[in-house]
Amino acid sequence: MLPSIYTPAEPFTLGLLGGGQLAKMTAQAAYRMGLRVAVIEHGENSPAGVMTKHEFSAGWRDVEELDKFIAASDVVTLENEFIDPAILDYIAERRLVFPSPDTMRLVQDKFTQKQTFSAVGIPTPAFAEIHTKQDLVDFGIAHGYPFVAKTRRFGYDGYGNATIKRDTEIDMVWRRFMEGEEPRPLLAESFVTFTKELAVIVARNKRGETAVYPCVQTIQQGHICVTVLAPAPIEEHLLKRAQEIALLCVETINGVGVFGIEMFLTSSNEILFNEIAPRPHNSGHYTIEACHTSQYENCVRAVLNLPLGSASMRVPAACMINLLGERTGNGIPDSVIEMLKIDDVALHLYGKKDVRLGRKMGHLTATGVTVDEAFARASRALERFVW
Ligand SMILES: Nc1ncnc2c1ncn2[C@@H]1O[C@H](COP(=O)(O)OP(=O)(O)O)[C@@H](O)[C@H]1O
Ligand SMILES: [Mg+2]
Repeated sequence: MLPSIYTPAEPFTLGLLGGGQLAKMTAQAAYRMGLRVAVIEHGENSPAGVMTKHEFSAGWRDVEELDKFIAASDVVTLENEFIDPAILDYIAERRLVFPSPDTMRLVQDKFTQKQTFSAVGIPTPAFAEIHTKQDLVDFGIAHGYPFVAKTRRFGYDGYGNATIKRDTEIDMVWRRFMEGEEPRPLLAESFVTFTKELAVIVARNKRGETAVYPCVQTIQQGHICVTVLAPAPIEEHLLKRAQEIALLCVETINGVGVFGIEMFLTSSNEILFNEIAPRPHNSGHYTIEACHTSQYENCVRAVLNLPLGSASMRVPAACMINLLGERTGNGIPDSVIEMLKIDDVALHLYGKKDVRLGRKMGHLTATGVTVDEAFARASRALERFVW
């Protein structure tokens, strides 16, 4: 018998903290494997919430609602790394939660991430904890300009980042982050003039089995990931090196679940750790169509302590493009007809009711014989997509 916490003979419910697109795709994988899903989110009709009658829409800050969600769930995982660790502790006293509250505490803070990983020899940009305005001045003197100030917590899509080009900008950045109603503690890191940004997804179960996905290139615009190329068009030894770094990150923190590790490739072919996300990652959407086991399925398998599936690609190449909102209003696109005429392109729409500028509304994944071919196909599909 499998040393798993899941016995398919019993109805088994996977609880998801968060109801966005990552939860939706995790739920799709869970349903395929015969599981049930419970979703807790602040608000009704989230992309994953609409998929289940076990939808808890008052959110996890409401203790009664949280208790109902816990009662409905056998094992809990999450799609959102910003949940208060005290709430995760509360859940962990009642149910298995993966990644664990300890892992979450560690990775919620970008400073502790870098501290933990650089201590085991993983290269990172130069970084420092910032307590005072003078610390920023000192960082500029020690490491030069420009450098990047980042909020230690709650940063996403670049919202917690500021590039400081000269010392006269320090005041402004300090005011923006530290003098509001709720100060947001900072770290500083040197600005990396990267040639490419890379990402690797790693799944790991409680027995320590791992599945390491191919290294991909992520292309951001305005700090938001817009395109992913799989595999990254870089030399073989660099692909391997990125996978080694990602695996070492997850093993260092004893992580259980699925993790996305973001890295920079420099002009001298150095790979530097940027950040780790303790959940399925945008850069791993392509795994649904392009890998033997998607990151979502391996997330389900990992948190259930089941054997992990192969992370290798079943097509030579893939390209994922995020469908970002280009207007405000109704979230239903005007037409998908022309784009659906293109073969080897999978359309994913998350079913969000409202669209906003830059909001992630869906994505498409094109597969191909080469990365260039997949990119061209995905770009053609994107041109035909009408909001
Ligand atoms: N030290 C850095 N040097 C150069 N660019 C950076 C640096 N840190 C972040 N960036 C750019 O900003 C983007 C978002 O930063 P990141 O730290 O990943 O924050 P987020 O949590 O918002 O994703 C990165 O993908 C990269 O393009
Ligand atoms: Mg990032």
